Amino acid sequence: MKSIAIKEFGSADQLKELEIEKPSIKDDQVLIEVHAFSINPVDCKRRSGKMGGKLPMVLGGDVAGIVSEIGTNVTNVKPGDRVFANASKTYAEYARSRAEVTVKIPDKLSFVEAAAIPLAGQTAWEALIDKGQLRDNEKVLIHAGAGGVGSLAVQIAKHYKAYVIATASEKNKEFLTSLGVNHVIDYKKEDFEKVVSDVDLVIDPLGGKSQEKSFTVLKKGGRLVSLVQKPDETKLKELGIVGIIFSMTPTSKRLQKLADLLTSGKIKAIVSQTYPFTEEGVREAHEQSETGHTRGKIVIKVK
Ligand SMILES: NC(=O)c1ccc[n+]([C@@H]2O[C@H](COP(=O)([O-])OP(=O)(O)OC[C@H]3O[C@@H](n4cnc5c(N)ncnc54)[C@H](OP(=O)(O)O)[C@@H]3O)[C@@H](O)[C@H]2O)c1
Repeated sequence: MKSIAIKEFGSADQLKELEIEKPSIKDDQVLIEVHAFSINPVDCKRRSGKMGGKLPMVLGGDVAGIVSEIGTNVTNVKPGDRVFANASKTYAEYARSRAEVTVKIPDKLSFVEAAAIPLAGQTAWEALIDKGQLRDNEKVLIHAGAGGVGSLAVQIAKHYKAYVIATASEKNKEFLTSLGVNHVIDYKKEDFEKVVSDVDLVIDPLGGKSQEKSFTVLKKGGRLVSLVQKPDETKLKELGIVGIIFSMTPTSKRLQKLADLLTSGKIKAIVSQTYPFTEEGVREAHEQSETGHTRGKIVIKVK
């Protein structure tokens, strides 16, 4: 079957078409005919060699498609079902997923929209709810609110009745307001730490200076959840705040909750760009992701 893979680490030019074997499945696994997958920043980090790994490497972290085969122990989905899943090696015509993180796609969602959800959505949910312990009416600051994770995080936080502040550039102000964000801060013109205070929870997908300054806007006992950088323990103690970094662990419960919120229209998938499943398409998609200024998600349409 066709895949787009790398034989060497490096730039997006390393992404090449590679014929590989269709995956076989175990008792608790599902084989999915891939209709769409999304690009996640981690794909570009892996492609560049920053994270090591064996070559050749087929990238990918999520998928939307049609169940082609199921293992003997699988009961939650059946062949022919439209599903989305957290899975690896999804830059291919078929991908293998664990049944426990494979969930039916809400009827009204297209494959392209569905592919935007599993990795970014589970990350946003885990950051806000599981790690961040967000409670009703809390004040939350979501950095990079217009990004893949951010655009879902702001919607989930609004669903949980939070007062949501998000950072983004001017071009995303209206977009974030339309998602219900209460206060959008243009990070190019304003210093968020000067206009925000008494925050209960910060979601940090940026690290560096942005994380450092975020410590000062949190109230005592407030929480900072980072997707990218371990917060400084000494600073946390000094300020009396809680800080954690985490790596998303997918669960079926969370993916099902996301599916339910999509069905009821409480959240929506934001896909700003789609590309074809060709060497050129996937390369361009990686280059776009690496600008660091994509709105919502980039999705590759396979079928
Ligand atoms: N720990 C985990 O399990 C986990 C899971 C998923 C992702 N991540 C990581 O989290 C990070 C974010 O992922 P993502 O998919 O959301 O990335 P993304 O979609 O590429 O983020 C792009 C967004 O970042 C915004 N942005 C860039 N610089 C900014 C700044 N200085 N202040 C505010 N916003 C800024 C851009 O808005 P403008 O265009 O308006 O500038 C753009 O909308 C990545 O490093 C990714 O690898 C970690």
